[in-house]
Amino acid sequence: MKKIGVLTSGGDAPGMNAAIRAVTRTAIKMNMTVLGVFKGYNGLIHGDMKQLDIRSVSDIIQKGGTMLYTARCNEFRFEEGLQKAKAVCLMKGIEGLIVIGGDGSFRGAADLSARGIPCVAIPGTIDNDISMTEYTIGFDTAMNTAMELIDKLRDTAQSHDRCSVVEVMGRHAGYIAVNTGIACGATYIITEEMPHPVEDVIERIQNTQTTGKHHFIVVVSEGVGNSQDIAKKIEQHTGIESRATILGHVQRGGTPTVRDRVAASQLGHYAVELLSQGLGNRVVGFQKGEIVNYDIQEALSMKKGFDERLYRVAMDISF
Ligand code: F6P
Repeated sequence: MKKIGVLTSGGDAPGMNAAIRAVTRTAIKMNMTVLGVFKGYNGLIHGDMKQLDIRSVSDIIQKGGTMLYTARCNEFRFEEGLQKAKAVCLMKGIEGLIVIGGDGSFRGAADLSARGIPCVAIPGTIDNDISMTEYTIGFDTAMNTAMELIDKLRDTAQSHDRCSVVEVMGRHAGYIAVNTGIACGATYIITEEMPHPVEDVIERIQNTQTTGKHHFIVVVSEGVGNSQDIAKKIEQHTGIESRATILGHVQRGGTPTVRDRVAASQLGHYAVELLSQGLGNRVVGFQKGEIVNYDIQEALSMKKGFDERLYRVAMDISF
């Protein structure tokens, strides 16, 4: 393979730049030309790309976001969009593509691989909701950002004897919620995987009050939502002033942690190795700390378990 493309797709995640850097430098070392494709699959469809050299990816390892920009591309879900992208690849001489993104982006990579352009996907999402891997790029940074913000909320909750209901991202996955909930000593964590009625939260707060605690953190995962309603109900039933905070997109930004930079570098390097062997329709990730690769369809059909034991730890020690 002499020329490859790299793009980021879906929601940005801290560490994507480190992955772009690893892909670019590994490929150049293997004597390949690298084209950076802008705005995800949109750039592929419209030919919006530029050649990357080793210096194009200098000074980005420490930066959040993605230097290639990103987007969710509806056009790529249809045959016409896929054919346009394939035609652009043929015209530009792109023989293989590295796609950094979440499971929506993987579907596109599988579809393009099936049409003759081999793609290797790298899991990049703060949600950590990709089943074939125990880790996705951006997860650690997002958790640390959420933890810092919840610590700040704790200061003000403590000063006012309030309950702070905090909604964290994760789409339908509660991994950010359970980990930050433990790290911040949340009195209760509600996720889609471990749904609990608000009455359970109220009962626990009331029991905890009897032990002399006056301020509370409740972490709610995005998929559960309703954080305003939950706060209102807690206030109505306990008399504790309650405030809801939705942390939102601030969790997606910021300088990536060591873990994200290293994971992104490993995955980027490995993805190029696979592509250079002519392999396509693969997704790379980690299992038991080891780097692995899977067929994309197989990866998409896998189910990720929720760590109920970790959840139990949280519930057993935070009251
Ligand atoms: O997948 C990453 C994520 O940040 C989710 O946690 C969240 O549900 C979603 O993206 C938000 O998407 P958008 O940036 O399009 O609002």
